[in-house]
Amino acid sequence: MCGIIGYVGHRPVVPILIEGLNRLEYRGYDSAGVAVVNGSGLEITKAAGRISVLEEMIDFESKNTFGIGHTRWATHGAPNDTNAHPHIDSSEKIAVVHNGIIENYKSLRTFLEQHGVTFKTDTDTEVVAQLIGHFYDGDLERAVRRALREVSGTYGLGVICTEEPGVMVAARKGSPLIIGVGQGEHILASDASAILSHTSQVVYLDDGEIARIEAGNFRLTTLDNVPISKETEEVEWSLEEIERAGYEHFMLKEIMEQPESMRNCLRGRIDLTEGAVHLGGLVDCTRELVRAKRFILTACGTAWHAALVGEYLFEEFVRIPTEVEYASEFRYRNPIVDDGTAVIAVSQSGETADTLAALREAKQRGALVLGVVNTVGSTIARETDAGVYLHVGPEIGVASTKAFTGQVAVLALMACYLGRRKHMSPAAAADYLQALSRIPEQMQETLDKVNVESEKVAERYSQRNNWLYLGRGYNYPVALEGALKLKEISYIHSEGLPAAEMKHGPIALITEGMPVVFIATSGLQYEKIISNMCEVQSRGGSVIAIATEGDHEIAKQADHVIYVPHTIEPLQPLLASIPLQLIAYHAAVIRGCNVDKPRNLAKSVTVE
Ligand code: F6R
Repeated sequence: MCGIIGYVGHRPVVPILIEGLNRLEYRGYDSAGVAVVNGSGLEITKAAGRISVLEEMIDFESKNTFGIGHTRWATHGAPNDTNAHPHIDSSEKIAVVHNGIIENYKSLRTFLEQHGVTFKTDTDTEVVAQLIGHFYDGDLERAVRRALREVSGTYGLGVICTEEPGVMVAARKGSPLIIGVGQGEHILASDASAILSHTSQVVYLDDGEIARIEAGNFRLTTLDNVPISKETEEVEWSLEEIERAGYEHFMLKEIMEQPESMRNCLRGRIDLTEGAVHLGGLVDCTRELVRAKRFILTACGTAWHAALVGEYLFEEFVRIPTEVEYASEFRYRNPIVDDGTAVIAVSQSGETADTLAALREAKQRGALVLGVVNTVGSTIARETDAGVYLHVGPEIGVASTKAFTGQVAVLALMACYLGRRKHMSPAAAADYLQALSRIPEQMQETLDKVNVESEKVAERYSQRNNWLYLGRGYNYPVALEGALKLKEISYIHSEGLPAAEMKHGPIALITEGMPVVFIATSGLQYEKIISNMCEVQSRGGSVIAIATEGDHEIAKQADHVIYVPHTIEPLQPLLASIPLQLIAYHAAVIRGCNVDKPRNLAKSVTVE
């Protein structure tokens, strides 16, 4: 996810662009940049880091009234000064800001190189700038249209050209874009938050539309140049609301955007016809990975829970012994690691000090080290030998939600990638990948159905100070994650356990009405978990079951049932975790807790 802003009008452009970028910073904040057109050409200021870094460098006194800006969440190319947007073509006339992923950028790059273009960055976006430059013949809109015919992938684009000052071209496919309509001025942005302090009149671009925007007017067409007429709309949300896309909290927004983040995570990585997984970040070390004698997954907190799912996936599909280690423990217990061991660090931020220290330790002991990381260019991503990014976009809420499902999905992809090179048949892989590719749409179904039910459960039990979460097999880590979500944002004591362990001690805790959440989706251990539910009910505990749609029998052993769609057992954590995120969220809201900034916590724990 990145943020785009553009302005054409009569006021000095720099303060407008910077204000807009600050409002869009939640969409990505690893680098930012601005391009304005002055009398002699393009003036580009860009830098790695947050927008405050750009603010220090930029000339706020500039009188220019036309330009574009961008705040980046890196996907292709490290988040450094060079890869920051805007990107320009070789003639240095055309500047582009882009949100999205150009899937065929490699082949386009080769094509352009064959035509003498020299690239300056590692980004997919520079390919778009160069392609527009390649087709430019004095009409920017025509060149953009021509270039987009060659592009596959997703984009929200803002394009300007020194030869046509006062003309901004925007195009949308898969990444949002809005035009704010002011008095003799227009503002282009990724969302209304960057526009609202100037105007509440907006036009929403739809996929496949191109806009030619000038100070006094704009024109919308399809990619094939068919004119489109659209009414302006009034934005009724307040600025504060809209920054969270209308959600009361970032955590809720991030829970709700999981279908989209999962789509982004899986995009381009699954080949259903071949039953194959493509993970570019593993290509160079695939041989070594397949020959590894042992995997160690290391992480903290939520990422550790995702790693635990990874252990089950790796052992089932890759058949290489796999262990999961708390990063904070691994480093200090003289672990046995050698060159036959591959250590995989799992981390949303890529900056968690314990995880980083564990991977450095492993590296020093001769292991191959990999990262499963969300933040592109983070320290863990840079220090690993290879890895796979989550691509789930920035996670702002302190309680991790979409990063958890992203981590599980990437580990599921890795299990299949390696499994296919070991014991997994093409047919088995095809079935597995078919199920994985359905997850985004099933996440949407889950969200549509379970929110109300989850809120009811939270309302009923939010004043109870002790909860248990129990699961077996792949759902055991889900139980741990559900308990962590509840405790960290609502401050209710909760424990997650393998369901069978309950009778070895924790069962003594069960009292009348104590909420016990069972993750009881269909699978090999289903009958056993039903027995565990009976054990709790017969001692007066209140059973909340997360079950598979269509399982009506389970209602006999449960006080509440929340249904999730059917998927194969190894992928159930991706769906079963959603109602648990929602229960925790609603419980925290009901208890008046600060959901996005829970006490004593920080988004990234950079101390040991
Ligand atoms: C809980 C949570 C934390 C993180 C942990 C590791 O909701 O967010 O437990 O999972 O601090 O952080 P990363 O994944 O950034 O290494």
